[in-house]
Amino acid sequence: MTTPVILPDTPAAPGIASPDAGTPDWESHCRIGLPRNCSFQPSDWQVLSRCWFPVARGDAVADKPVRARLLDLDLVVYRTNGIARVARDLCSHRGAALSLGWVEGDTIICPYHGFRYGPDGACRGVPAHPDLPISPRLRIAAFPTVERFGLIWTTLNGDDTPLLPDFSAWDDPDFQPILAPTIDIEASAGRQMEGFLDVAHFAWAHTQSFGDRNNPFVPSYKVMRTPRGIRADYLSTVSNYPRGLQHLAPPDFQWLRVFEVFPPFCARLIVHFPDGGRLWILNAAAPVAARKTRLFCPLARNFDKDGPVEAVHAFNLQIFNEDKVIVESQKPEDLPLDIQMEAHIAADRTSIAYRKLLKEMGLGQLYVS
Ligand code: FES
Ligand SMILES: [Fe+2]
Repeated sequence: MTTPVILPDTPAAPGIASPDAGTPDWESHCRIGLPRNCSFQPSDWQVLSRCWFPVARGDAVADKPVRARLLDLDLVVYRTNGIARVARDLCSHRGAALSLGWVEGDTIICPYHGFRYGPDGACRGVPAHPDLPISPRLRIAAFPTVERFGLIWTTLNGDDTPLLPDFSAWDDPDFQPILAPTIDIEASAGRQMEGFLDVAHFAWAHTQSFGDRNNPFVPSYKVMRTPRGIRADYLSTVSNYPRGLQHLAPPDFQWLRVFEVFPPFCARLIVHFPDGGRLWILNAAAPVAARKTRLFCPLARNFDKDGPVEAVHAFNLQIFNEDKVIVESQKPEDLPLDIQMEAHIAADRTSIAYRKLLKEMGLGQLYVS
C-alpha cells in the first residue's frame, strides 16, 4: 500500500490566507494573513503589508539563502540563477526554516526532508515519494521581488508591480552609487523617518558630524504635495561637509536640501553642494516590527567620485548613529498621527505634513482613537 504524499484536505500552512475562509474581501486576495505575535495594530499591519519595502542588501545574498524579517514575518531571501527571490521562511510540510536550506537550479530546498520549491512557491519535489503526484496545496508563500538601488524589495500583499521611490541617480552614469552600511534601530520606522525629515536638529544631534551649535536657526520653508507624497525645499547655511572639511564651502554658501517623501517609510534627500555637486540620499526604512527598524541607505554623488567609499560609509554611519540614540529614546514609541498629541514649531512643517500623509494612508487609526 502506498501512502499519499498529501491528503486532499490538508490545511494551508498557518498564516496563509485561504480563499474560502470567510475573510473580508481584500483579505481573500492576500498571500498572507496577520503573523503570530504581531506587534502592529492589525489595521496598520494590513495597510503596511500592501506596501513595498527593502528586506536585504543585494550584496548580502549570494549562493546561500539568507533570513530576513518584515512586519513580524520571517522571510527567506535567496537567488536562483542570479535572480533575487523572497519567500516566507516556512516550509509548508513541517514548518522548518527554509533559510537553513540551499538552492539548486531555480528551486530552494528544505533542510528537513528535502522538499524543493520553485520560484512561484509550488512544491516541485518530495524526495521520499518521487513517483507520487504532489498536491497543489503544498506550496510556500512566494512574494513579488525586485532588486533596485542595491537592495532587494518585496511586498507581502501588495501589487506585483513594484511601487518604489524614485532614486534615478543610482543608475545615472554621472553619479557614483554607494550603498552605505545598514543600521538596526530599536524604534518605529515612523519615528526614524520623521527624524530624517527634521531640519531643526542639525545644530544639536549632529554637532560631532556636520552640525554647528552656533547655527541653530531654521529659516522658513515650504512643503508641497507631490503625486506620491510630499516635498520640502529647505535652504539654509548649515553645511553638509564633515566638521573637519567645512572650510571647503564658500562663505555664506546657501545649502539647498530637497526632501521628497515616498510613503510610508522612504524619503529621498538631494543635497546641493557648491559647484553643482549633488548628493542623493535614500532613507529606506523597513519596518521589521512595530518598534524595530532596519534602515537601508543607498547614496549617489556626482563629485569626489574617485574618493574612498569607506569615508562615505563612516560619515553616514556616524550621522545615523547620532540619530539612532535620539530616536530610540522617544516616547511614545509610535509616531502619533493625531497632530494634537505633540507640540510643534514652525520648523516642523515637514513632519506635520508627513504625519498627515500616514494618516491618509489609513495608518494609526487605533492609535489616535
Ligand atoms: S519540513 Fe520542510 S521538507 Fe519537511
Ligand atoms: Fe539626523
